[in-house]
Amino acid sequence: MLSRNRWKPILIAAAALAAVGAAVAACLMYEPAIAPIQPPAPASIDRELALRGARVVALGDCAVCHTAPGGKPYAGGLPLSTPFGTLYTTNITPDAQTGIGSWSLDAFRRALRRGIARDGHQLYPAFPYVHYTRMSDDDIAAAYAFLMRRDPVVAKAPDNDLIFPLNFRQLVAFWNVLFLRPGPDAPDPAQSVAWNRGRELVTGLGHCAACHSPLNPIGAESWGKALHGGVVDGWEAPSLVRLSRARVPWTEADLVTYLRTGMSARHGAAAGPMLPVTQELATVPLQDVQAMATYLFSLQQPAGDPAPSHAAEVDRQAIARGAVLFRGACASCHGEKAPMQSVGGRPGLATSSAVQAATPRNVIQMMLLGVPWQGEQPMHYMPAFGATFDDAQLADLAMYLRATYSTLSPWQDVPQAVAAIRKGDATR
Ligand code: HEC
Ligand code: HEC
Ligand code: HEC
Repeated sequence: MLSRNRWKPILIAAAALAAVGAAVAACLMYEPAIAPIQPPAPASIDRELALRGARVVALGDCAVCHTAPGGKPYAGGLPLSTPFGTLYTTNITPDAQTGIGSWSLDAFRRALRRGIARDGHQLYPAFPYVHYTRMSDDDIAAAYAFLMRRDPVVAKAPDNDLIFPLNFRQLVAFWNVLFLRPGPDAPDPAQSVAWNRGRELVTGLGHCAACHSPLNPIGAESWGKALHGGVVDGWEAPSLVRLSRARVPWTEADLVTYLRTGMSARHGAAAGPMLPVTQELATVPLQDVQAMATYLFSLQQPAGDPAPSHAAEVDRQAIARGAVLFRGACASCHGEKAPMQSVGGRPGLATSSAVQAATPRNVIQMMLLGVPWQGEQPMHYMPAFGATFDDAQLADLAMYLRATYSTLSPWQDVPQAVAAIRKGDATR
């Protein structure tokens, strides 16, 4: 039997270890505040720099997240639902109290590179700083100039509603140890200037991997699987490293057109969370988008094993019912003789990525939500059918499209997929 005295050194060692652990944790979690500044007078900010900043914030989709529906741009308040609860974006206009008016450039840079707010608190990684950390100092300074020249808006974000223990922001420090590699990549001298810029834009500012990568159980992008395809808001964000292996292989020109116009005649239209990305990219210089395409095409994976095909049952009755619904509700636009099909440059269903995808997710989302009306492009509109059809009818339509417009094996469990996506529990 061990005497109490023999235990003593072990207990002391354990206590010492725990104390060291706690000290390390405290060090990790502690970040100093950066002194507040007086909001700079807009006229004191370089106009040229602010103009370049407009391009940076468009490439970074800052307004997409930092604007509530119907709210003022950049004033925040958009709810983001995550598997861990709801988080609200903050106000990034230069209001001193509720926005970032009192933030120096140093504070702003630290937020983008390391996810730390001016007062030292950890920011949640729903703010994609793990990607923005790859931005160049020049781009960060330009974005800062652009934002600081805007009119301040007084707006306070609603309180977050996150599950325990994630409501403790300090825990993000541990997440950062695992998933944040701060700072830009050194340029690769073996590659072209365009490739290097493309890498910076795709992996950094464009944060494409935030949506186009699979996630691990704690909500971070899986290591080594960047851009291999993910699920976001119930939509499938397809792999970007297999573009050259699509039914009709993508070309760099297809990709540039898609990213800048939201449409590729050979692959379909951008919808769901991808639509605002393309609307922002429509405003940036062509060369930036070309650089992205150059980089993405250097990542394409050689043909490997074909995707596993399941020997799924063909439900002929469902397909027949779907055909009837299609003739009534869809053929006026998607039928061969429909006027929409005679407008050049339009994607047909037979090459649509959504119909060729591994899961029916995007076809279902497309039918539920349609393509919202966008004034300037009247032909780029599809009504939402979520209220018109029930789950069984939408499933019939999806099975009909798959059987008619692809040669791939049928999707499985389509009615269940419709129900799950409608309920919104198909996120991630
Ligand atoms: C995918 C959505 C998303 C995008 C895109 C995004 N942000 Fe954010 N951002 C957030 C969220 C969410 C927060 C709040 C995080 C928190 O409260 O912990 C945030 C917080 C911030 C903060 C900290 C503000 C504060 O008061 O604490 C800054 C600064 C910021 N974002 C700047 C930017 C800039 C600049 C861009 C574009 C380059 C950008 N964000 C793009 C989601 C986003
Ligand atoms: C008023 C015209 C209109 C009607 C009616 C319509 N659509 Fe669409 N649909 C569009 C437009 C516009 C797009 C975006 C692609 C484009 O611009 O060509 C689209 C895209 C799609 C896509 C995605 C293709 C892609 O871009 O990858 C699917 C799937 C689809 N529609 C299915 C349907 C189904 C099923 C119905 C009937 C229930 C239907 N649509 C009815 C106009 C229409
Ligand atoms: C907010 C999430 C999000 C971000 C950020 C995002 N995407 Fe997407 N992307 C999607 C979703 C969802 C789809 C599928 C829906 C669709 O086809 O419209 C998609 C579709 C695409 C497609 C069509 C793929 C195919 O096989 O049809 C391409 C190409 C693409 N994205 C490229 C990019 C690039 C490049 C970036 C970075 C500049 C990017 N995306 C950023 C969500 C995102």
